[in-house]
Amino acid sequence: MTRGRLLTNEQAIEAYQLYKTLGSSVKAAQQLGLPRSTFENRLAAYKTRFSTEDKTDKSDTEFTVMALPDDDLDIEDLVELRIKQFGKKREYQEATKLIQVKVKINGPIGILHFGDPHVDDDGTDLETLRVHSDLTKIEGVWGANVGDTTNNWVGRLARLYANQSTTAAQAWKLAEWFINRTRWLYMIGGNHDAWSGAADPIKWIARQQDALYQPSECRVGLNFPNGRQVIVNARHDFTGYSQWNPAHGQMKAAMMGHRDHLMISGHRHTSGYGVIKDGSTGRICHAVQVASYKIYDSYAKERGFRDQTLSPACMTVIDPELEDDHADMIKLFWDPQQGAEYLQWKRGK
Ligand SMILES: [Fe+2]
Ligand SMILES: [Fe+2]
Repeated sequence: MTRGRLLTNEQAIEAYQLYKTLGSSVKAAQQLGLPRSTFENRLAAYKTRFSTEDKTDKSDTEFTVMALPDDDLDIEDLVELRIKQFGKKREYQEATKLIQVKVKINGPIGILHFGDPHVDDDGTDLETLRVHSDLTKIEGVWGANVGDTTNNWVGRLARLYANQSTTAAQAWKLAEWFINRTRWLYMIGGNHDAWSGAADPIKWIARQQDALYQPSECRVGLNFPNGRQVIVNARHDFTGYSQWNPAHGQMKAAMMGHRDHLMISGHRHTSGYGVIKDGSTGRICHAVQVASYKIYDSYAKERGFRDQTLSPACMTVIDPELEDDHADMIKLFWDPQQGAEYLQWKRGK
């Protein structure tokens, strides 16, 4: 769309002369190879700038004001633009319902699920995070981030930077360090990350590394060379809470929603695990709640939450040679180091 005020006089004159010759704006637009709306903008610009037609002052006012071009899109262009935007949205939404991943190595793989990193928090165990990040350098081990990479205090919460010894600038530095040194299968934005809105810096850091980054949820289909597909359904949080079962949200989703092989989330800073078998297909669904690297949490202490952290992370080793109904097709290790050793032993067989 070209706005009237950006048109040159030559374009406006050309449009008017052709219109006079052909007597039709449709034909004239076709001859110039322009959309009709663009042509009519040029014609309108000519009338505004040069034409004396229709300018006869029929009123009894003492002055007239020149006609001004519209400073926004014409309605036809606006409708076309909205339709195009919706088309892009639909294409993206449909594609992300299940993101296909082609696995290019044979044998078992391990996904190291990092619990909420909160890399800039004073209570965060950065040393263990670094050790775990190093494990993703091992063949077949890929990192997965369930969100809340930094505290990202924004708006009224910005006052909370006074309670931590890292600055906002240092927080992004730490996030960049962590993201760049880890090999990612996917990353998810948590509620803390989402506070940045459309300008979420994690999205841009992940893009530099070519890492798959999705806001709040990521469902990936791992397509192994032997033809097997294993689906990992990760969210920052699954809705639903039970004081009797720390993996209640994930288990509920596995029973009532997608029965994916692995349903995993973070956010609650607690560990939990449940295994459910889909009676109709035999598929075994692993429902996992992964905790956080933020080990010392003043909020949890203040509220008297009991410690339910088994580990800040976990590793799921997936063996595509085993069938959906094999209880060990996915094997969970709360200590990623143990998981990596098991994976190396399995891959060496
Ligand atoms: Fe969270
Ligand atoms: Fe968190």
